[in-house]
Amino acid sequence: MSGAELRDEPFTLLVAGHETTATALSWAIDRLVRLPDEWERLREEALSDGDTYADAVAKETLRLRPVLPIVVRRLTRRAEIGGWALPAGTQVAPCIHLVHRRPDVYPDPHVFRPERFLEQPAGTYTWIPFGGGVRRCLGASFALFEMRTVLRVIARAAALRPARPEPERVTRRVITLTPGRGTEVVMDLASRAERSSAVLEAAA
Ligand code: HEM
Repeated sequence: MSGAELRDEPFTLLVAGHETTATALSWAIDRLVRLPDEWERLREEALSDGDTYADAVAKETLRLRPVLPIVVRRLTRRAEIGGWALPAGTQVAPCIHLVHRRPDVYPDPHVFRPERFLEQPAGTYTWIPFGGGVRRCLGASFALFEMRTVLRVIARAAALRPARPEPERVTRRVITLTPGRGTEVVMDLASRAERSSAVLEAAA
């Protein structure tokens, strides 16, 4: 590899991997602080070392709040999609957001319900927050692992409540869809020291 290529590799991983995962986690927290039952279930699991529910929370977050709303492809040969004959060279943009809101695939599509991913596995063609095919996100497994880990540590250690009653609005930041105010939450100050040591313990 040339020097430039060597520099580009970690730079790509940082740019593609940091903000995306951080944004997804912010969306997860935005939902969870408003849903005591789901928060409690996550917390119980975190205290008992499991991560099945944390995985379902991560997947439901990425379904309802995909960090990237579309992926883009240029056709290398003509194709017929949805009754449209498209010549080679056409740019198509499969819409992650719309696929994730299909009521025939996801009943009550606007409701945050992690349990749906306990009842059925995430579909290859119907759950696509990481795109698909040969260009599917290189960091998908790592991102989910990171999300599960962070969610479990937070659930175990912190009592959070929303800083404002209204949920975050979706705001576009260059190409990502982020919480407009950065998901501000309030942590119980009285037990802060106790919780900080719990965070350190949980992360160890
Ligand atoms: C929740 C977190 C993440 C989301 C939502 C996300 C989403 C995506 C999406 C939608 C694509 C385009 C896929 C396609 O065109 O089919 C992509 C590509 C990519 N992602 Fe991620 N990503 C995340 C985390 C990461 C992480 C942690 C890394 C690396 C450490 C990473 C590295 C990449 C790379 C290198 C590509 C380009 C793959 C290629 O073109 O062959 N991503 N990501």
